[in-house]
Amino acid sequence: MVMSKVLTISGQKGGSGKSVTAVNLAVSFALYGKKTLLVDCDPQGSVTEWSGIKALGYPFDLSSVLNGKATIIKAIVKTEFNSLDILPAGFDLFHVALKLAGTVSNEKILRLFLEDVEPDYDYIIIDAPSSYGFLSVAAMTAADWLIIAMCTQQNCLEDFHCLLKLIKYVRATHETPLKIASILFNRCKTKDEIDRFLEDQNLAEIKDLVSQNFIPEDGAVKKSIDKKTPLALYDVKSPASSAYLDFAKEMVLVFK
Ligand SMILES: Nc1ncnc2c1ncn2[C@@H]1O[C@H](COP(=O)(O)OP(=O)(O)O)[C@@H](O)[C@H]1O
Ligand SMILES: [Mg+2]
Repeated sequence: MVMSKVLTISGQKGGSGKSVTAVNLAVSFALYGKKTLLVDCDPQGSVTEWSGIKALGYPFDLSSVLNGKATIIKAIVKTEFNSLDILPAGFDLFHVALKLAGTVSNEKILRLFLEDVEPDYDYIIIDAPSSYGFLSVAAMTAADWLIIAMCTQQNCLEDFHCLLKLIKYVRATHETPLKIASILFNRCKTKDEIDRFLEDQNLAEIKDLVSQNFIPEDGAVKKSIDKKTPLALYDVKSPASSAYLDFAKEMVLVFK
């Protein structure tokens, strides 16, 4: 039985590239033949839209699972990639989260539902919202590993320290091993730019966690979003698509 690696894409700043990373990392894993489930845990539904499944329609989504209207198996949608399935989300997730928030044990709900399908996948990737709210905590509690999306356009020292506090909270409250698998920089030009940024931000201590790959600023990202298609289908040779494929390869080695 294959036990999957559950990875949440985190980082508390909006616009740091979490959702772009969730979609394109999941597609990259699928292209390497890894059975992958992409879970949209954000009421914005970015990955649901950008992966192209929203236009095709689906009867249930993550909110249906959390409020008991559908089993997780029923809510999972197949995609044009043999190895990629998606658990979609939309704004209904906001209302369900309001009901579940405030009770600490509910923060484990996504983890418990995912346990039912974990044996079916090599990787489960969860896209978390940019907040300190219930859904972020539930997404982090569901995972054993975090990938943190950062970009050099945003100051991140305080955010990073708050994220560490959140990780500590999740570990202590839910007794999970939650660890940082990698910090992935997005929208930059060179590795030097990342090193300089870490020095400037007093974050040199996290250098070892930073991926050897980074995602360059690339017009193909916005164009693929506009077309609601993953980068690998829009232009597999684009710099960002190649970078996501390289990053996925790096992650496969980390989890070997
Ligand atoms: N590598 C990139 N190159 C160019 N634009 C990017 C890149 N990554 C992200 N973007 C842009 O940044 C926006 C925000 O990214 P998103 O993944 O939604 O961030 P988050 O989920 O962290 O809020 C996207 O809509 C996209 O237009
Ligand atoms: Mg997002």
